[in-house]
Amino acid sequence: MILVTGATGTIGSELIRQLAQRGEQVRALTRNPGAATVPDGVEVVGGDYADRDAVAAAMAGVDAVFLVGVFGPHSNADPGLVAAARAAGVRRAVKLSAIGTGDPELGWIGTWHEPGERALRDSGLEWTVLRPSAFATNSLAWADDIRHGKPVPSRTWTGAQGVVDPQDIAAVAVRALVSDAHTGHTYTLTGPEALSEYDQAAVLGSALGRPVEVVDLTDDEVRARMATAGLPADYIDGVQQGTAFIRDGRNATLTDDVQAVLGRAPRTYTQWVADHLSAFTAN
Ligand SMILES: NC(=O)c1ccc[n+]([C@@H]2O[C@H](COP(=O)([O-])OP(=O)(O)OC[C@H]3O[C@@H](n4cnc5c(N)ncnc54)[C@H](OP(=O)(O)O)[C@@H]3O)[C@@H](O)[C@H]2O)c1
Repeated sequence: MILVTGATGTIGSELIRQLAQRGEQVRALTRNPGAATVPDGVEVVGGDYADRDAVAAAMAGVDAVFLVGVFGPHSNADPGLVAAARAAGVRRAVKLSAIGTGDPELGWIGTWHEPGERALRDSGLEWTVLRPSAFATNSLAWADDIRHGKPVPSRTWTGAQGVVDPQDIAAVAVRALVSDAHTGHTYTLTGPEALSEYDQAAVLGSALGRPVEVVDLTDDEVRARMATAGLPADYIDGVQQGTAFIRDGRNATLTDDVQAVLGRAPRTYTQWVADHLSAFTAN
């Protein structure tokens, strides 16, 4: 049995799809089981990470767990999930972390996953840490503007990143969950090219057959958007330290880790756009 936390999220939902396709026995954890859509045969269980009894019940009888945790300065979900996994006799755990974790240059955003990574490495479980770069799916935030022919807002300007397809992140997670070949590894998962948001808009424009204009957001505009979304000030400060890092071109890292684990090249952003073009076209 493989337990997927963050089961309704970007990576968790894709991971469940891939595990179910392989015929693995899968359990999905969500706070809102009634709203979860999962492939046939996947068991859905309810629970908040803060609810110890629910988490213990979700971990019962599980061989391997995928940990998503909660991102942010006040997140302490991961150590509790790791402790619950140990208590339940889970053998293997794979944690979704982020590129740059532990890099002192990155500021606060580089420390948010550290307690979870540490708890996992110290747990005695067979562990793997996945540190992806920017998800290709982040562009879905532009879908509405693009459908309406409006320019898309850029937070990171011309700062390039190794934009990675969540399909590849999930595929690596599958390998790490079903075998011990990846135990003790920390993988930095990137796509094959370093792309800025301008580059991504150009790929989208070329697929759509019309230009996609980009407007740079100032720091104040980025902060105001996050504040309107209800995010706390220290979260916004942390994200903006990461934003400055990216704008300076310091997150342009590309690695061979997807190739090394999957034995094939990582998927390109162009491929991701082709798969998701309908999200950007007028209904
Ligand atoms: N986006 C990027 O470019 C990027 C890049 C690198 C790393 N990452 C990392 O990716 C992670 C986010 O992954 P994602 O995008 O796949 O997630 P997501 O789409 O943001 O979804 C979050 C998931 O976590 C679950 N969740 C949140 N709080 C919970 C709680 N208190 N108890 C139980 N479940 C809870 C939600 O489940 P329910 O709502 O169904 O309960 C949901 O399934 C972050 O740690 C981030 O650092 C993101």
